[in-house]
Amino acid sequence: MSGTKRQAPVLAVINMKGGVGKTTLSGNLCREIFREHSAKTLLVDFDPQINLSQLLLTRTQYDDLHKQGKTLWSIMESRAPESVFAVAESDLHDIGKVEDYTTRLKYLTKTPDIDLHLLPGDFRLAILNLRENANSLKLARKRFENLITKARETFSLVVLDCNPSSSFLTRCAIESATHLLVPIRPDKYSVLGLEMLSEYVGQMTQLTKKPEFIVVFNGVGRTASSVETELRAHGAFGPSVMVTSIPRSNVLHARADYTGFAVDRKVAYTGVIRTVLKSGAGELAKKLHLKK
Ligand SMILES: Nc1ncnc2c1ncn2[C@@H]1O[C@H](COP(=O)(O)OP(=O)(O)OP(=O)(O)O)[C@@H](O)[C@H]1O
Ligand SMILES: [Mg+2]
Repeated sequence: MSGTKRQAPVLAVINMKGGVGKTTLSGNLCREIFREHSAKTLLVDFDPQINLSQLLLTRTQYDDLHKQGKTLWSIMESRAPESVFAVAESDLHDIGKVEDYTTRLKYLTKTPDIDLHLLPGDFRLAILNLRENANSLKLARKRFENLITKARETFSLVVLDCNPSSSFLTRCAIESATHLLVPIRPDKYSVLGLEMLSEYVGQMTQLTKKPEFIVVFNGVGRTASSVETELRAHGAFGPSVMVTSIPRSNVLHARADYTGFAVDRKVAYTGVIRTVLKSGAGELAKKLHLKK
Protein backbone atom coordinates (compact mmCIF):
# COMPACT_ATOMS: atom_id res chain seq x y z
CA MET A 1 0.00 0.00 0.00
CA SER A 2 1.33 3.40 -0.97
CA GLY A 3 0.65 4.95 2.46
CA THR A 4 3.23 2.75 4.18
CA LYS A 5 6.05 3.36 1.71
CA ARG A 6 8.58 6.16 1.99
CA GLN A 7 7.70 9.08 -0.26
CA ALA A 8 10.75 10.56 -1.98
CA PRO A 9 11.09 14.34 -2.25
CA VAL A 10 10.08 15.92 -5.56
CA LEU A 11 12.36 18.77 -6.57
CA ALA A 12 10.95 21.01 -9.32
CA VAL A 13 13.70 23.12 -10.88
CA ILE A 14 11.74 26.14 -11.91
CA ASN A 15 11.75 29.84 -12.76
CA MET A 16 9.37 31.78 -15.02
CA LYS A 17 12.48 33.43 -16.43
CA GLY A 18 14.16 31.53 -19.26
CA GLY A 19 17.84 30.73 -19.57
CA VAL A 20 18.68 30.94 -15.86
CA GLY A 21 20.19 27.45 -15.64
CA LYS A 22 17.24 25.18 -14.81
CA THR A 23 18.36 22.46 -17.21
CA THR A 24 22.06 22.82 -16.41
CA LEU A 25 21.41 22.37 -12.70
CA SER A 26 18.70 19.70 -13.08
CA GLY A 27 21.33 17.60 -14.81
CA ASN A 28 24.66 18.51 -13.31
CA LEU A 29 23.78 19.44 -9.74
CA CYS A 30 21.27 16.63 -9.22
CA ARG A 31 23.70 14.10 -10.66
CA GLU A 32 26.07 15.11 -7.88
CA ILE A 33 23.36 14.39 -5.27
CA PHE A 34 22.89 11.00 -6.90
CA ARG A 35 26.63 10.32 -6.72
CA GLU A 36 27.22 11.56 -3.21
CA HIS A 37 24.11 10.18 -1.58
CA SER A 38 23.56 6.94 -3.48
CA ALA A 39 20.09 8.25 -4.09
CA LYS A 40 18.21 6.35 -6.77
CA THR A 41 17.26 9.37 -8.83
CA LEU A 42 14.75 10.09 -11.56
CA LEU A 43 15.35 13.12 -13.77
CA VAL A 44 12.17 14.12 -15.60
CA ASP A 45 12.51 16.34 -18.66
CA PHE A 46 9.30 18.31 -18.13
CA ASP A 47 9.96 20.89 -20.82
CA PRO A 48 8.76 20.62 -24.45
CA GLN A 49 12.11 22.13 -25.50
CA ILE A 50 13.63 18.75 -24.42
CA ASN A 51 16.94 20.39 -23.50
CA LEU A 52 17.67 17.99 -20.65
CA SER A 53 17.17 15.01 -22.96
CA GLN A 54 19.48 16.65 -25.50
CA LEU A 55 22.09 17.21 -22.81
CA LEU A 56 22.13 13.56 -21.76
CA LEU A 57 21.19 11.57 -24.87
CA THR A 58 22.57 11.50 -28.38
CA ARG A 59 20.13 12.18 -31.19
CA THR A 60 20.09 8.49 -32.10
CA GLN A 61 19.45 7.42 -28.53
CA TYR A 62 16.61 9.94 -28.23
CA ASP A 63 15.04 8.91 -31.55
CA ASP A 64 15.12 5.25 -30.49
CA LEU A 65 13.40 5.98 -27.20
CA HIS A 66 10.89 8.21 -28.95
CA LYS A 67 10.02 5.39 -31.34
CA GLN A 68 9.54 3.01 -28.41
CA GLY A 69 7.20 5.51 -26.76
CA LYS A 70 9.61 5.92 -23.86
CA THR A 71 9.04 9.65 -23.39
CA LEU A 72 6.85 11.71 -21.13
CA TRP A 73 4.26 11.95 -23.89
CA SER A 74 3.23 8.32 -23.31
CA ILE A 75 2.53 9.25 -19.70
CA MET A 76 0.57 12.43 -20.36
CA GLU A 77 -1.47 11.12 -23.27
CA SER A 78 -2.77 7.59 -22.84
CA ARG A 79 -3.61 5.66 -25.95
CA ALA A 80 -7.34 5.74 -26.69
CA PRO A 81 -9.08 2.65 -25.32
CA GLU A 82 -10.53 0.26 -27.89
CA SER A 83 -13.94 0.62 -26.32
CA VAL A 84 -14.92 3.29 -23.85
CA PHE A 85 -17.40 0.86 -22.32
CA ALA A 86 -14.79 -1.74 -21.54
CA VAL A 87 -12.45 0.54 -19.59
CA ALA A 88 -13.10 2.27 -16.28
CA GLU A 89 -11.91 5.88 -16.07
CA SER A 90 -9.61 5.02 -13.19
CA ASP A 91 -7.84 2.45 -15.43
CA LEU A 92 -6.92 5.26 -17.81
CA HIS A 93 -5.23 7.11 -14.94
CA ASP A 94 -2.90 4.21 -14.26
CA ILE A 95 0.43 4.47 -16.08
CA GLY A 96 1.67 1.01 -15.11
CA LYS A 97 5.32 0.70 -14.08
CA VAL A 98 7.41 3.92 -14.06
CA GLU A 99 10.56 2.08 -15.07
CA ASP A 100 8.89 0.96 -18.30
CA TYR A 101 9.22 4.58 -19.47
CA THR A 102 12.58 5.58 -18.02
CA THR A 103 16.11 5.05 -19.27
CA ARG A 104 19.06 4.21 -17.03
CA LEU A 105 21.90 6.63 -17.62
CA LYS A 106 24.38 3.92 -16.67
CA TYR A 107 26.63 4.70 -19.63
CA LEU A 108 27.07 8.24 -18.31
CA THR A 109 27.93 7.41 -14.73
CA LYS A 110 30.73 5.54 -13.04
CA THR A 111 28.43 4.22 -10.36
CA PRO A 112 26.40 1.48 -12.05
CA ASP A 113 25.43 -0.13 -8.75
CA ILE A 114 22.90 2.58 -8.14
CA ASP A 115 20.37 4.01 -10.50
CA LEU A 116 20.20 7.34 -12.25
CA HIS A 117 17.23 7.38 -14.63
CA LEU A 118 15.93 9.85 -17.19
CA LEU A 119 12.35 10.19 -18.32
CA PRO A 120 12.91 11.91 -21.67
CA GLY A 121 10.86 14.92 -22.71
CA ASP A 122 8.80 15.31 -25.85
CA PHE A 123 8.00 18.23 -28.17
CA ARG A 124 4.37 17.15 -28.14
CA LEU A 125 4.05 18.28 -24.50
CA ALA A 126 3.67 21.79 -25.92
CA ILE A 127 0.22 20.80 -27.17
CA LEU A 128 -0.93 20.49 -23.57
CA ASN A 129 0.07 24.08 -22.87
CA LEU A 130 -2.07 25.20 -25.82
CA ARG A 131 -5.21 23.29 -24.84
CA GLU A 132 -7.79 25.52 -23.26
CA ASN A 133 -10.47 23.05 -22.35
CA ALA A 134 -9.83 22.09 -18.71
CA ASN A 135 -11.66 18.80 -19.15
CA SER A 136 -9.34 17.63 -21.87
CA LEU A 137 -6.40 18.21 -19.54
CA LYS A 138 -7.92 16.27 -16.67
CA LEU A 139 -6.66 12.90 -17.86
CA ALA A 140 -3.13 14.20 -18.48
CA ARG A 141 -3.08 15.66 -14.98
CA LYS A 142 -4.31 12.45 -13.38
CA ARG A 143 -1.72 10.40 -15.24
CA PHE A 144 1.03 12.82 -14.23
CA GLU A 145 -0.11 12.53 -10.60
CA ASN A 146 0.05 8.76 -10.96
CA LEU A 147 3.60 9.03 -12.34
CA ILE A 148 4.69 11.14 -9.39
CA THR A 149 3.05 8.87 -6.81
CA LYS A 150 4.75 5.81 -8.26
CA ALA A 151 8.08 7.57 -8.83
CA ARG A 152 8.13 8.66 -5.18
CA GLU A 153 7.85 5.04 -4.14
CA THR A 154 10.38 3.71 -6.66
CA PHE A 155 13.09 6.40 -6.38
CA SER A 156 14.80 8.31 -3.54
CA LEU A 157 14.68 11.60 -5.41
CA VAL A 158 12.52 12.88 -8.26
CA VAL A 159 13.68 15.96 -10.20
CA LEU A 160 11.52 17.92 -12.66
CA ASP A 161 13.26 20.19 -15.16
CA CYS A 162 10.46 22.69 -15.82
CA ASN A 163 9.69 24.95 -18.76
CA PRO A 164 10.01 28.71 -18.31
CA SER A 165 6.36 29.72 -18.52
CA SER A 166 3.31 29.79 -16.35
CA SER A 167 1.38 27.06 -18.05
CA PHE A 168 -0.47 23.81 -17.50
CA LEU A 169 2.84 21.99 -17.17
CA THR A 170 4.11 24.51 -14.60
CA ARG A 171 0.97 24.02 -12.54
CA CYS A 172 1.35 20.23 -12.61
CA ALA A 173 4.97 20.57 -11.48
CA ILE A 174 4.20 22.91 -8.57
CA GLU A 175 1.27 20.78 -7.43
CA SER A 176 3.43 17.69 -7.20
CA ALA A 177 6.64 19.25 -5.87
CA THR A 178 7.76 19.11 -2.27
CA HIS A 179 10.57 21.60 -3.03
CA LEU A 180 11.14 24.25 -5.71
CA LEU A 181 14.75 24.86 -6.71
CA VAL A 182 14.81 28.32 -8.29
CA PRO A 183 18.02 29.13 -10.15
CA ILE A 184 18.60 32.82 -10.64
CA ARG A 185 21.23 34.73 -12.51
CA PRO A 186 22.71 37.66 -10.64
CA ASP A 187 20.52 40.18 -12.46
CA LYS A 188 17.31 42.01 -11.58
CA TYR A 189 15.14 40.29 -14.22
CA SER A 190 16.04 36.91 -12.93
CA VAL A 191 14.97 37.95 -9.42
CA LEU A 192 11.72 39.18 -10.94
CA GLY A 193 11.14 35.61 -12.14
CA LEU A 194 11.51 34.45 -8.52
CA GLU A 195 9.01 37.06 -7.30
CA MET A 196 6.51 36.07 -9.99
CA LEU A 197 6.86 32.43 -9.09
CA SER A 198 6.38 33.14 -5.41
CA GLU A 199 3.21 35.14 -6.19
CA TYR A 200 1.95 32.37 -8.49
CA VAL A 201 2.48 29.70 -5.82
CA GLY A 202 0.88 31.99 -3.21
CA GLN A 203 -2.27 32.16 -5.33
CA MET A 204 -2.54 28.38 -5.62
CA THR A 205 -4.94 28.13 -2.72
CA GLN A 206 -5.83 24.54 -3.57
CA LEU A 207 -2.40 23.36 -2.37
CA THR A 208 -2.75 21.77 1.03
CA LYS A 209 1.00 22.02 1.59
CA LYS A 210 3.05 24.60 -0.27
CA PRO A 211 6.42 23.44 -1.64
CA GLU A 212 9.51 24.82 0.05
CA PHE A 213 11.50 27.41 -1.92
CA ILE A 214 15.25 26.92 -2.38
CA VAL A 215 17.03 29.64 -4.35
CA VAL A 216 20.42 29.15 -5.99
CA PHE A 217 22.54 31.74 -7.75
CA ASN A 218 23.87 30.46 -11.05
CA GLY A 219 26.41 31.96 -13.41
CA VAL A 220 28.06 34.18 -10.81
CA GLY A 221 31.37 36.00 -11.19
CA ARG A 222 34.29 35.99 -8.76
CA THR A 223 32.75 38.58 -6.45
CA ALA A 224 29.15 38.71 -5.28
CA SER A 225 27.01 41.15 -7.26
CA SER A 226 24.79 43.72 -5.54
CA VAL A 227 21.77 41.66 -6.63
CA GLU A 228 23.13 38.63 -4.78
CA THR A 229 24.03 40.61 -1.66
CA GLU A 230 20.58 42.25 -1.59
CA LEU A 231 18.70 38.99 -2.07
CA ARG A 232 20.68 37.25 0.66
CA ALA A 233 19.64 40.06 3.03
CA HIS A 234 16.00 39.96 1.86
CA GLY A 235 13.55 39.27 4.71
CA ALA A 236 11.39 36.74 2.85
CA PHE A 237 13.75 35.18 0.28
CA GLY A 238 17.11 35.55 2.09
CA PRO A 239 16.87 32.40 4.26
CA SER A 240 16.04 30.23 1.26
CA VAL A 241 19.12 31.25 -0.75
CA MET A 242 21.74 28.49 -0.88
CA VAL A 243 25.16 29.32 0.53
CA THR A 244 26.76 27.70 -2.53
CA SER A 245 26.57 29.76 -5.71
CA ILE A 246 27.35 28.17 -9.06
CA PRO A 247 30.01 30.04 -11.03
CA ARG A 248 29.83 31.03 -14.66
CA SER A 249 32.13 28.50 -16.29
CA ASN A 250 32.92 27.04 -19.67
CA VAL A 251 32.74 23.61 -18.06
CA LEU A 252 29.01 24.09 -17.40
CA HIS A 253 28.23 25.67 -20.74
CA ALA A 254 26.29 23.14 -22.85
CA ARG A 255 27.91 22.20 -26.16
CA ALA A 256 26.33 20.77 -29.27
CA ASP A 257 29.30 18.42 -29.74
CA TYR A 258 29.16 16.85 -26.29
CA THR A 259 26.57 14.57 -24.69
CA GLY A 260 26.76 13.96 -20.97
CA PHE A 261 27.44 15.56 -17.63
CA ALA A 262 29.64 18.65 -17.64
CA VAL A 263 32.31 17.47 -15.21
CA ASP A 264 32.90 14.25 -17.16
CA ARG A 265 34.23 16.23 -20.11
CA LYS A 266 37.98 16.03 -20.30
CA VAL A 267 38.74 19.75 -20.04
CA ALA A 268 40.45 22.06 -17.55
CA TYR A 269 38.73 23.13 -14.32
CA THR A 270 36.29 20.21 -14.14
CA GLY A 271 37.74 19.43 -10.68
CA VAL A 272 37.01 22.95 -9.46
CA ILE A 273 33.44 22.84 -10.75
CA ARG A 274 32.89 19.36 -9.33
CA THR A 275 33.91 20.65 -5.88
CA VAL A 276 31.37 23.47 -6.10
CA LEU A 277 28.63 21.13 -7.35
CA LYS A 278 29.44 18.68 -4.55
CA SER A 279 29.07 21.37 -1.95
CA GLY A 280 25.77 22.53 -3.52
CA ALA A 281 24.56 18.93 -3.68
CA GLY A 282 25.38 18.43 0.00
CA GLU A 283 23.39 21.51 0.93
CA LEU A 284 20.45 20.45 -1.19
CA ALA A 285 20.49 16.88 0.13
CA LYS A 286 20.18 18.25 3.67
CA LYS A 287 17.21 20.40 2.70
CA LEU A 288 15.61 17.39 1.02
CA HIS A 289 16.34 15.19 4.09
CA LEU A 290 18.30 12.66 2.03
CA LYS A 291 20.59 10.44 4.03
CA LYS A 292 24.24 10.03 3.08
N1 LIG B 1 26.96 28.29 -14.67
C1 LIG B 1 26.99 28.37 -16.00
N2 LIG B 1 28.14 28.67 -16.65
C2 LIG B 1 28.17 28.76 -18.00
N3 LIG B 1 27.11 28.57 -18.79
C3 LIG B 1 25.93 28.25 -18.20
C4 LIG B 1 25.81 28.13 -16.78
N4 LIG B 1 24.53 27.81 -16.50
C5 LIG B 1 23.88 27.73 -17.68
N5 LIG B 1 24.72 28.00 -18.69
C6 LIG B 1 24.37 28.05 -20.14
O1 LIG B 1 23.33 29.03 -20.27
C7 LIG B 1 22.35 28.60 -21.20
C8 LIG B 1 20.99 28.50 -20.52
O2 LIG B 1 21.08 27.52 -19.50
P1 LIG B 1 19.91 26.45 -19.28
O3 LIG B 1 19.51 25.87 -20.58
O4 LIG B 1 20.36 25.54 -18.21
O5 LIG B 1 18.78 27.43 -18.74
P2 LIG B 1 17.23 27.12 -18.55
O6 LIG B 1 16.78 27.94 -17.41
O7 LIG B 1 17.01 25.67 -18.48
O8 LIG B 1 16.63 27.67 -19.92
P3 LIG B 1 15.10 27.51 -20.44
O9 LIG B 1 14.32 28.53 -19.70
O10 LIG B 1 15.19 27.76 -21.91
O11 LIG B 1 14.68 26.11 -20.10
C9 LIG B 1 22.85 27.26 -21.76
O12 LIG B 1 23.59 27.52 -22.93
C10 LIG B 1 23.79 26.75 -20.66
O13 LIG B 1 24.78 25.89 -21.15
MG1 LIG C 1 15.74 24.44 -19.64
